[in-house]
Amino acid sequence: MNTDLIKKYNKAAPRYTSYPPANHFTEEVNSSNYEEAVRKSNSFKPQNISFYLHIPFCKKLCFYCGCNTCPMGKANQVKSYLAALKTELSRLINLLDKNRKVSQIHYGGGTPNAIEAQHLQALNQMIFDAFELTDDAEVAIETNPAYLDEQYLLDLKQAGFNRFSLGIQDFNKDVLRLVNRDPSAMPIADIMAIIKNGQPNNAINFDFIYGLPAQTLDSFAETIEAAAKLKPDRLVTFSYAHLPSVFKNQEILEKRGLSDSNLKVAMYNKAAMILAEAGYKAIGMDHFVLPNDELFRALDSKKLHRNFQGYCTRATTGQVYAVGVSAISQLEQAYLQNTKSVDDYIERISQGNAATVKGYELSKQEMIVREAITDLMCNKVLDLESLAMRRNISLDTLKNSIHLDKNALAEFEADNLLKMNANRLEITDAGQLFIRNIAASLDPLQVNPDRLYSKTI
Ligand SMILES: C[S@@+](CC[C@H](N)C(=O)[O-])C[C@H]1O[C@@H](n2cnc3c(N)ncnc32)[C@H](O)[C@@H]1O
Ligand code: SF4
Repeated sequence: MNTDLIKKYNKAAPRYTSYPPANHFTEEVNSSNYEEAVRKSNSFKPQNISFYLHIPFCKKLCFYCGCNTCPMGKANQVKSYLAALKTELSRLINLLDKNRKVSQIHYGGGTPNAIEAQHLQALNQMIFDAFELTDDAEVAIETNPAYLDEQYLLDLKQAGFNRFSLGIQDFNKDVLRLVNRDPSAMPIADIMAIIKNGQPNNAINFDFIYGLPAQTLDSFAETIEAAAKLKPDRLVTFSYAHLPSVFKNQEILEKRGLSDSNLKVAMYNKAAMILAEAGYKAIGMDHFVLPNDELFRALDSKKLHRNFQGYCTRATTGQVYAVGVSAISQLEQAYLQNTKSVDDYIERISQGNAATVKGYELSKQEMIVREAITDLMCNKVLDLESLAMRRNISLDTLKNSIHLDKNALAEFEADNLLKMNANRLEITDAGQLFIRNIAASLDPLQVNPDRLYSKTI
């Protein structure tokens, strides 16, 4: 671990879960553009499509949370929200070409398992009734294990879910208490056994966060060792993203003691070592999978891809149609984001309008930059010749579209973070930690950055 490099590169930069980042979305793209944008997306490849459904409610708010959440509130509000969600999904389905197959359905939040499973089942059924699913379609749900019991898990399986994310965050109860979070209601091993029983191909992900109060190098290593023994299919160690100016609750954690960037890097490295010894392979940023996982095969063949929901493969995931408050549709040519207020969402949908309040229409140049940055972030390689061929453009057009900050790239190379030749950039193992910085050096929007981002480490 080189502390000088950490000091040098621990700067604010986008996380690049989308390009352009969501803080570039503008109100010029709004509900009046929704219908046309969705219809237009029917003619873009890839053929398979994805759905994202947002359930914003949480029974209790964790102080670190950077997601779009709201407290459960009154039962009436939840009921009206679910009715609006069904209406929005049904209108969306009517606009979509039914000859497409669905390869991914993803429920995120908030806490999707904060609501009764019968509602999730009804929403899934609307999609199953309208579309054929691909053979290996993924029906995934993010869950908080504090609110899982056996019957609920059985109901989720019955509703068609086959990938379950368990937000463990940390096994250490002191850490959880300091961030206002309850531990799992059942032993995680029991939850896993129920999920796999009779359906061994059902997949299980664990989520962890490092950088929280009271976490030490040893305590986080214990958590990761315990996790590795349970052998989930995938495991994510998120670096805690601290942005208290946007997420007010995070201010509370400043008083409870956050880890400095050197400790965060040490925690990540130790976790990565424990997981490598347990047979896991590192994927992109912070993700670990078993070697037979399709994500590892995709990384191996440089075909790893990502959307807001996480890593995926180009072959299995297409445009993402999103419903619910704050949800972002990720179409080939545009992003469309719904209002972030639950009441506003319910009102817009009940008045017969789309809930889109912001978005972005990508220029041809921005689609090129998006693909270059996604390639680099996912596959650690940017091969300009193969990208130019894939997009059917000349090498010159490609080079003129991305920023290619030669000074910054030369410095990354001198610091042994990057290997370069005229048409190829490859991130070294040491460079993996600074991948956001390297991606930012290809981004025309970062020449004069004017938005807020969390620091890269
Ligand atoms: C919507 S939440 C997961 C579902 C469920 N609500 C839960 O708490 O387990 C998605 C994931 O984002 C991660 N997350 C939330 N806030 C974060 C932050 N500020 N920095 C890094 N990761 C964060 C957590 O690991 C969490 O599991
Ligand atoms: S981490 Fe999950 S449960 Fe906690 S506030 Fe965020 S979305 Fe809600």
